[in-house]
Amino acid sequence: MSSKRNLVFGSDHAGLALKGVLKARAEELGFTLVDLGTHDSASTDYPDWAHQVAARVAAGDEWGVLVCGTGIGVCITANRHPGVRAALCGDVFSAKMTRAHNDANVLCLGARVVGEGLALEIFDAFLAAEFEGGRHQRRIDKIDIGAS
Ligand code: RB5
Repeated sequence: MSSKRNLVFGSDHAGLALKGVLKARAEELGFTLVDLGTHDSASTDYPDWAHQVAARVAAGDEWGVLVCGTGIGVCITANRHPGVRAALCGDVFSAKMTRAHNDANVLCLGARVVGEGLALEIFDAFLAAEFEGGRHQRRIDKIDIGAS
């Protein structure tokens, strides 16, 4: 397990149930977490939650977990924040590699795409993988427009 970051969760209504499952897993693993919302099943707009989570991640040393129906909307939104590297993962290999090579700091999941079992495996893999640094840091340094 990599050094434990505080986790900041967010979802829209479509991601609410899966977010609950992931929060329970995070607690089991000993992570400190905060859930910025949504907190009920009323229809809501995914950017509202993704912006809040991404702002926290951009400002500090926390990691984000965002869930919507597909995971796509929250991922697009979060990546508008400089310094945020949000990765939409639908398989375990991608979850591991986006930590190892992209130093991803936000995991995005699609609650209508992956079942709970796979989502938990993806979540565990993301949290456990270590960033490899080196040439991957050089590439990350080129991501933001105007940075290279
Ligand atoms: C909500 O119906 C749905 O559009 C949203 O959860 C997400 O999938 C958007 O990308």
